[in-house]
Parts: sequence; C-alpha cells; structure tokens
Amino acid sequence: MSRDKLDLIRAACPSVLPSLLLCDFGDLKGELARLEDAGTKVLHLDVMDGHFVPNMTYGMPIVEGIRKHSDLPMDVHLMISDPLKYAQPMVDAGADLLTFHVEAVDDAATVAREIRSMGVAVGVALNPETELSRLDGCLDEVDLVLAMSVKAGFGGQKFNPVALEKLASLKQLHPDLLLEIDGGINLETIALARAAGCDLFVVGSAIFKHDDYAAAIAALDDEIAGALS
Ligand code: DX5
Ligand code: ZN
Repeated sequence: MSRDKLDLIRAACPSVLPSLLLCDFGDLKGELARLEDAGTKVLHLDVMDGHFVPNMTYGMPIVEGIRKHSDLPMDVHLMISDPLKYAQPMVDAGADLLTFHVEAVDDAATVAREIRSMGVAVGVALNPETELSRLDGCLDEVDLVLAMSVKAGFGGQKFNPVALEKLASLKQLHPDLLLEIDGGINLETIALARAAGCDLFVVGSAIFKHDDYAAAIAALDDEIAGALS
C-alpha cells in the first residue's frame, strides 16, 4: 500500500509513462529492465475487461508479476465496468495509483473516496466524447485526471486533440491536480500536451515500435522540454 508513491510520481513530472499494452509479455522481466535502463520512472498498466471496452488484456497476476521485478510506481488504468470490485485486489497486487473511468460509474466521488481509503492514489479518466462537466463533484476526491486522447480500448489509434482543451481547462481551474494524457502520444503530439499543462504522458506505440527504448524516450523527453508552456 503506497500512497507515498504519489510523491515519487509527483517528483517525476513531467514524465513519459510507457504503456505495457504493447510490450513483449513473453519477456516481461527483460522488458521491465530495458524500460528502467531507459530512464522510466513510472509504469502505466492497461487493464481491460472486454465489457467496458471491446478488448481484453490482463488482471491481477500480471500486475503482481510486474511488482516482483520492479519497484517503480505502477499507474493502473482500469478500463473495466466495475472498478470497485477489483480495486482492493489490484492494490493487493501492488498498484500504487488506480484510475477508473467516469463513464463506468454512477457516483465517481464515492468510488474515488473508497479507492483512496485503500491507501493508494486515485485518478479519474474520461474518454474523448465525455464532457468535462461529468467530473463535477469528484475532483476534490482525486489526485489525477486522465484525459483520453483516443477512445479507451486499443493502442495505436490516432490522437484526438479534444483532450488538449480539457487539460488546459483543468490546469487553469485545478492547478494542483496531476494531469495525464493517454493515446496517440508521439513526437508530433507530446509537446502539444505539455503546452496544455499535462504532467504525465502515456506512450505505447511510440516507444515499443522502436528497438531502442532509451532513444525513443529521450526524444519524447526532448519534445516535452522544448514545449511552450
Ligand atoms: C488505450 C490505452 C493506452 C494505449 C496507448 O486504451 O489506454 O495506454 O496503450 O497506446 P498508444 O500510445 O499506441 O496510443
Ligand atoms: Zn492507458
């Protein structure tokens, strides 16, 4: 249980978070070592249930397996219909930050409070078509907002700039919230997200399609550093 990992996540900002969706699961230990050597400070894990999204990935055993081979903070993105049902098992498996989708729940404030009571940090995510006003009433209960720049469910989709407007509004109105973006982030889009006030940048294809993760992450870091803010 590790709300203190939230301090590590904050200290890492701005930071590129590799999304393990596209990694080689046959060599998870090796992939984690390569990512750590490449300077990764926080891992992003995509959990999909085949119900909230039309794709399935993995659950607690993989999260637990990753925890065995890495001490890095784990940001677990729950793309599932019933986040509270699996929140405690995910915490037990080693998650440090649990992010649920506002579209999946009736009362986001209550869900956020319950997750926080489990001793981890909590984030709320919203899909591109979801209005920011859906977050009304829950922002005091969360540490992070994840603005999806693709519809949750698959890696390798095209960036949707609607996320940028949401990030810019959130940055202005809630400067203390951690802001994260996920989907279609690459060398062309990452600086736009930074300029909009984003702190954490989830990246799948733009890292894993390269053999040299360190070079891919360094190039993304350079774009973040060069962004106008
Ligand atoms: C999409 C996932 C993402 C995805 C990002 O539903 O939440 O984390 O893996 O992959 P890219 O960077 O390829 O869009
Ligand atoms: Zn994700």
